[in-house]
Amino acid sequence: MSHTPIRSGMCDVDVTIRCILKVNHAGEFGAVRIYGAQLLVARRLFPDMVPALEEMREDEIDHCRLFREAMPARGAKPCRVMAFWSLGGYLLGLMTSLGGRNMIWICTEAVEVHRHLEDQLAFLAKRDPELHAIIASIQEQELAHLRKAEDSQKRRGLSHALLLPLISALTDLMIWLSTWGDSSWMRAEMAGAGKD
Ligand SMILES: [Fe+2]
Ligand SMILES: [Fe+2]
Repeated sequence: MSHTPIRSGMCDVDVTIRCILKVNHAGEFGAVRIYGAQLLVARRLFPDMVPALEEMREDEIDHCRLFREAMPARGAKPCRVMAFWSLGGYLLGLMTSLGGRNMIWICTEAVEVHRHLEDQLAFLAKRDPELHAIIASIQEQELAHLRKAEDSQKRRGLSHALLLPLISALTDLMIWLSTWGDSSWMRAEMAGAGKD
């Protein structure tokens, strides 16, 4: 694990694994902040939602910790602008929760779609079985969060059609900015490396 970062499109498994950890850790941290802000509002306006949001926030804290703990052995470091993620996630959670119950679930649905985990699992299966197992267990919980968000929405009107892609794009942009574009580089690198 002593490779130096390669940005020329050449595949370097260790660098890609570090990048996976950095991007995932940033995303989990953002999720903690989104749920934290939603909880702040829900405690005052929608107390019935608090147990579900608290449970999901606890899961995200756990995911964040698991990725952080996997970093040192792989020479990975958290992204340098966690404060940016912290603020962005908090504002997103706050704004959506002020829009009401349904808006909270739409936001949850948007941030709980984790297509990138499938690619990571395929990439890591033989390259880093330990990290593969961590991500597989996290993926199960993320899917449970997604199902909860989908099942809890009373209606799926225009707000769902407009907000879902907007929030997805915003969270992708936040991850991209906070990791200096590493999220797109990581996807390209995994595609270039193949999945065997
Ligand atoms: Fe998570
Ligand atoms: Fe989640």
